[in-house]
Amino acid sequence: MCGIVGYIGPRQAQDVLISGLSKLEYRGYDSAGVAIQEQDGHIDVCKKAGKLSNLAAVLEAEPLLGTLGIGHTRWATHGLPNDTNAHPHASEDGKIVIIHNGIIENYLPLKEQLTQRGHVFRSETDSEVLVHLIEEKYAQTNNDLYEAVRLALGDVRGAYGIVVTHADHREIVAARTVSPMVMGVGEGEMFLASDVPALLPYTREMVFLHDGDMVILHDDGFKVTDLAGREVQRNIEHIDWDAEAAEKGGYDSYMMKEIFEQPTALTNTLIGRLHDDTGEVNLDIKLDPASFKRISIIACGTAFYAGMVGEYLIEQLARIPVDIDVASEYRYRDPLVNEHTLAIVMSQSGETIDTLEALREAKKFGAKTLGIINAKGSSMTREVDDTLYIHAGPEIGVASTKAYTSMVSAMLMLALWLGRARGTLTEQQSRELLLAARELPRLVEQLLTPERVEHIKQVAEKYAYARDFLFLGRGVNSPTAYEGALKLKEISYIHAEAYAAGEMKHGPIALIDEHMPVVVIATESKLLEKTISNVQEVRARKGKVILVLSEGDTEHARYGDDVIYVPRAQEMVSPVVNAVALQLLAIFTAQKLGKDVDKPRNLAKAVTVE
Ligand code: G6P
Repeated sequence: MCGIVGYIGPRQAQDVLISGLSKLEYRGYDSAGVAIQEQDGHIDVCKKAGKLSNLAAVLEAEPLLGTLGIGHTRWATHGLPNDTNAHPHASEDGKIVIIHNGIIENYLPLKEQLTQRGHVFRSETDSEVLVHLIEEKYAQTNNDLYEAVRLALGDVRGAYGIVVTHADHREIVAARTVSPMVMGVGEGEMFLASDVPALLPYTREMVFLHDGDMVILHDDGFKVTDLAGREVQRNIEHIDWDAEAAEKGGYDSYMMKEIFEQPTALTNTLIGRLHDDTGEVNLDIKLDPASFKRISIIACGTAFYAGMVGEYLIEQLARIPVDIDVASEYRYRDPLVNEHTLAIVMSQSGETIDTLEALREAKKFGAKTLGIINAKGSSMTREVDDTLYIHAGPEIGVASTKAYTSMVSAMLMLALWLGRARGTLTEQQSRELLLAARELPRLVEQLLTPERVEHIKQVAEKYAYARDFLFLGRGVNSPTAYEGALKLKEISYIHAEAYAAGEMKHGPIALIDEHMPVVVIATESKLLEKTISNVQEVRARKGKVILVLSEGDTEHARYGDDVIYVPRAQEMVSPVVNAVALQLLAIFTAQKLGKDVDKPRNLAKAVTVE
């Protein structure tokens, strides 16, 4: 994910930018660049594909002198990771320079219009439209940089953290929606970055910009406004985190940070890919959706459960037979694979050896292959025919959270893409599902509000000393039950089992007594009444029921000893929202028991041995 640093003050900007960008390297990137304003105003740009050290070496040999600058590490989305596509991007006269994180969703029509008006594009990026738009607005607003940026942003749709400067102004203008941005306040100097660690060596006084904020920075201060140009007050906060706490963003663990990052991660998974005007999904996949007769999904651990959701979604929406295997089984069970099979490997790390070897096995028999993967450039991405990146950003906590919900969302998009291409979904059906998917970041954000989180914590603490747990769900949420049980096992070491709710009566029901908490996912669905019947079966045997219900469902609340309400979501997208509630249940249980949630015993983040 891209990183941003900006500086205005008495220091040499180059040093601040390179040091700041190095603290953001963990976000992943494939090129880097800086723009520095010299004393006479002239702006020098230097950008290089590859590691930050490539750029640093060039700058060390020939330093760019100047005390105002902006820097960027780019994680390619539109256009190859080469020198030209790297940021900053400059206007034709070299006076305006910008850096951008995020995706401009309507860049194609904008680019077309700008080209017709005589603008010449030099890169393949979506970001470059911003510099041309700002250039036009700058002329229209009588050379007002802030106003030009503000008006340009009015024309774009998507996610952005944008930082702009101009040779004729000693100021930096920045704005954000979705992409994070924090401002550092020094004495006679100001800083900007996409994350706190970049600024900690310079200042601990910080302002966290909100969605829709714009800011103008001068050497001696700043002004924050909204996108309508109205001034807004943002407090300066003193950050006393040490380096490790800063990396955790102030949360007590990486896992908690990653749970709370899910609205952003989901936005990054979905953005630029959903076209709700036409009902189409643009996944940039070259594979021919009509060329395969069946799909095999292969994965391990949490990724496997995301694959199970995919099985439901693809069969329902695209009507293609799907089978799913844990990778360690697939390799050795002599699976039926041929050139009409699409093998989908799912993996956060892209390195899990079982999945990698299963991929090789599928290829050996001629299958087409697709990876649903988080880690850019990982081994699997180099061996599959095509990759659908989930763009969840780095996941450090061993127990997977944001990668899971992003993988499920990627699967939903894949099912829609297949369904549209194969004619099993009408434009109307597809548009409805696209709109439901678009809602996901907002729904998860609603779930993560302090009152709801506190309530889940109370429920978790009430049952934290249980010896066993049972998780039940049906249909597209039966995998949610499996993932909920896995999360609890992984970090709290409490024994937990999951079943499709209708299967409980065929065995696990024997385990139920007054000591057994049973978590039941009973959100809005065609099968809700059947799930409630299963709840009755648990209650009749004195089991303790923790019900996960859709917001506003008061009718069924009486069947639960405790109820966790989650925002109402369309059934097909509900596994994403429901999973977040179960992640919180697991983490608060583990924390109550004093466990280290980031480093659960015996587990590894990426298992590269068989
Ligand atoms: C390990 C981790 C799990 C993860 C699984 C698959 O077992 O502990 O959390 O789900 O590997 O990892 P992958 O990187 O392939 O998604």
